[in-house]
Amino acid sequence: MGDSGEERVVEHLRDAHAIEEQALKQLERAVELANDDQIEQVYREHLEETHEHEKLVRERLEAHDHEPSAVKDLTMRSGAVGLRQLADIAPETPVKLAMHFYAFEHLEIANYELLGRIARGAGDDETAQAAEKILEQERAAAEKVAETFDRAAELLLEAEESEGEEGSDSGSEEASREKEEAKS
Ligand SMILES: [Fe+2]
Repeated sequence: MGDSGEERVVEHLRDAHAIEEQALKQLERAVELANDDQIEQVYREHLEETHEHEKLVRERLEAHDHEPSAVKDLTMRSGAVGLRQLADIAPETPVKLAMHFYAFEHLEIANYELLGRIARGAGDDETAQAAEKILEQERAAAEKVAETFDRAAELLLEAEESEGEEGSDSGSEEASREKEEAKS
């Protein structure tokens, strides 16, 4: 493998590692926030797979005598690949979780499609194989997230309906408060 080829692979592996670290954090949060057994199960399963992905990517970095990025570096890298914007969606409801992770999984899909090609081009077949293995699971995860769309939308409608039923009480309270504020 030529030096510049190896550098490209290492560079891309470090980005992949930063993405997996983000994925771990966000999936842990998703499991806490899901508030629905079916949806929680999807995120929990992918969290387990993501631990494997992080390990696979780290092992490939180590095979090239490199370590994953330090925390500071990681934050910068996450910004560089657009994760900050993704994180800004603030996924606190099942609908937003679904949007967030559908986008996130597709970022990962693109990442491993490219890593596979870059590694093959550099003659690093082991990294290419790791990328292809992870890619398959990211594709499956994106599909599973899409399968939560129905349930997530249902939960949103149910929540809105029960808010409506809770009565005009809180509504009128708010209205009178607004009136008060308008007067002052
Ligand atoms: Fe993923």
